[in-house]
Amino acid sequence: MSPETIHRQVADIIDQHRQKPGALLPILHAIQDTLGFVPPESVFQIALALNRSRAEVHGVITFYHHFRTTPPADHVIQVCRAEACQSMGSDQLVDHVSRRVATCRAGQFDVHPVYCLGLCASAPAMMIDDTLHARVSPQKFDQLVDRLEAHS
Ligand code: FES
Repeated sequence: MSPETIHRQVADIIDQHRQKPGALLPILHAIQDTLGFVPPESVFQIALALNRSRAEVHGVITFYHHFRTTPPADHVIQVCRAEACQSMGSDQLVDHVSRRVATCRAGQFDVHPVYCLGLCASAPAMMIDDTLHARVSPQKFDQLVDRLEAHS
C-alpha cells in the first residue's frame, strides 16, 4: 500500500470520527481495523487533526498493547505457556517454534504467548490463526508450518 493511499485512508477515518468525544481511540481502532496496524507516519496526521501533540498520540498507541505499529504477519501463532502445557513441555516447544519461525520469510509468522487455550487435557496446545491444535510436538508443528508455507 502506497504512502499516499495510507494518508488518504487515514484522512477519511479521521473525518468520520473527529467529532466524537474522545475521538483519538475510535480513530486508532478504525485505522487498525482498516489497515491492520497504525502506521507510525500517521501519528503526525492524527495529532494535527485533533490538535494534540505527536507525543500524546504516540503515548496512547504505545500504552495499549492492542495497537500495533507494523503490518501484521500472514499467520499468528499463539503458544500456550500456562501450567498444564508447561508441564507437558511447552517451554521446549516454544524454543522449537522460535527456531523454526526464524528460518521463515519475514512477516510470515507472529508468535505470541497465551495463558490457557482451554485444551489443558490435551497439552501442549497452540492456536494458529483461528485453529486450535492439541498435543503439539515439534514434529507436528513442523508439519503445520510446512503446510502453511506450501499454500503461501
Ligand atoms: S494450560 Fe495450555 S491449554 Fe490450558
